[in-house]
Amino acid sequence: MTPLNIPEWQSLDRHYGDIKFLSMREQFALDSGRFERFTIRSGELLLDYSKNRITQETIDKLIALAQAVNMKDWTEQMFTGDIINHTEGRAVLHTALRNRSNSPVLVDGQDVMPLVNAVLKKMASFCEQVHSGSWLGYSGKKITDIVNIGIGGSDLGPAMICDALEPYGIDGLSVHFVSNVDGTDLSTTLEKLNPETTLFVVASKTFTTQETLTNAQSARQWFLKSAQQSDVAKHFVAVSTNAEAVAAFGIDTANMFEIWDWVGGRYSLWSAIGLPIALYVGMDNFERLLDGGHAMDLHFRNQPLAENIPVIMGMLGIWYVNFFNSQTHAIVPYDHSLARFPSHMQQLDMESNGKFINRQGARINYKTGPVIWGTPGTNGQHAYFQLIHQGTQLIPVDFVLPVNSHYPECDHQSILLANGLAQAEALMKGKTAEEVRSELVKEGYEGKALEALLPHKVFPGNRPSNALLFPKLTPEMLGQLVALYEHKVFVQGVVWNINSFDQWGVELGKQLAKAILPDLLAADESISEHDSSTTELIRLIRQLRQ
Ligand code: F6P
Repeated sequence: MTPLNIPEWQSLDRHYGDIKFLSMREQFALDSGRFERFTIRSGELLLDYSKNRITQETIDKLIALAQAVNMKDWTEQMFTGDIINHTEGRAVLHTALRNRSNSPVLVDGQDVMPLVNAVLKKMASFCEQVHSGSWLGYSGKKITDIVNIGIGGSDLGPAMICDALEPYGIDGLSVHFVSNVDGTDLSTTLEKLNPETTLFVVASKTFTTQETLTNAQSARQWFLKSAQQSDVAKHFVAVSTNAEAVAAFGIDTANMFEIWDWVGGRYSLWSAIGLPIALYVGMDNFERLLDGGHAMDLHFRNQPLAENIPVIMGMLGIWYVNFFNSQTHAIVPYDHSLARFPSHMQQLDMESNGKFINRQGARINYKTGPVIWGTPGTNGQHAYFQLIHQGTQLIPVDFVLPVNSHYPECDHQSILLANGLAQAEALMKGKTAEEVRSELVKEGYEGKALEALLPHKVFPGNRPSNALLFPKLTPEMLGQLVALYEHKVFVQGVVWNINSFDQWGVELGKQLAKAILPDLLAADESISEHDSSTTELIRLIRQLRQ
């Protein structure tokens, strides 16, 4: 069950040997149709993957591998509610949350669409009440601030979307996200807010997450300094699968928005976990986001593998991780409002595909998910791009490029885009020693000084990137982009033969933190058993604590 034994993988391996030194620069010079050959459009979104270390034969072989691992069958299994998250015995149905066609999706023989639609209706009604002012705070004032308390998938996705859709924000309403159990996060948020006009959304799929419950309890204490216990219902709502725990926390379950175990945390922004988004930009814009996600679902499900954006991006990722041995992948949005996009993608990808055990429970002897990272351009250019251009590692980059800004300031957008395109061009072309030499000569260098400087100014080039270009960052486009990356992650998980939908690797740290906390809080000198490093650090913390 290792992909290494699949003939199509082995064929790619031989092909890698043949083309590993292939020059993209030369390929562009030889083939004027390279851009057209290696672009795909889905609605207004364009993927240009021509600046990759590929020939048509590479793509044919990557697609043959995708076919060999039954990509289309796996895709259908996901969309139709099969239990593909087998270690947790769950279906994987974030696509049902944005199934705008409303066609039935069965889990254990039950159509989940009526459940999905009922929660969307409840969200719409709640948003309408908050926006119209029929939902008021305890002193009769309108809600002005939404504070989402959640972490991981119950924070990163909604926070990223709210940032990105700031131009669509409803007047008079601000949204804040508190995730870290570090008291700084909550305190610095609350110090700006008025309890009379603040609404807390406690978002936790499980409603057992230590950080979220701790923050929610502290938020309630802060609130009760000004208000009564009976006012809590007007200021705290919950999003969860766990009605019992929500009630135990003291939130009226009438104010709970339901999600289901077939919604993975990092895939949940489309569910009621997206409530802060709907509150912030309005339900109509939240539904536009769902529309975009659904459009990408249709593309992914129906397009042939070779004309399928998530499949091509996923298989190119396999090409670099498993054949070129690249360890990381950068996502660089040339849009400041997408500043949190790489962080959301980091959780999405690394929590999904950071696995060393295959679906059959055996240890894997090939590489799986890369480190995903990035920050917006052009800032990254003045920070880490040096290493991408001249470092010793191969780091594929995704450039995310909206043509038009919501804030059209003189030439800013053209300068921004020129920089994005220039980085991709420079990574591909590089600069040869001959080119550097002639530049240095023009600048008046000669002899030893020229020879000494020359190697430092050479760019090896041949460094791969994708460009995702679209007219403007609308809710629909954002929905398409997020769904695209979700499916890219899925494609890679299928090839690597792993379950992309569990996350057991986060559990050990949680268990150990529970064991260490009593040691930190102990009034006496007692300490439970740890390694000597942990024990001494605990002692030191006790000594230093004020
Ligand atoms: O610890 C990891 C994780 O389980 C993520 O998968 C999840 O998104 C996050 O914690 C938050 O979980 P919950 O929504 O249950 O609080």
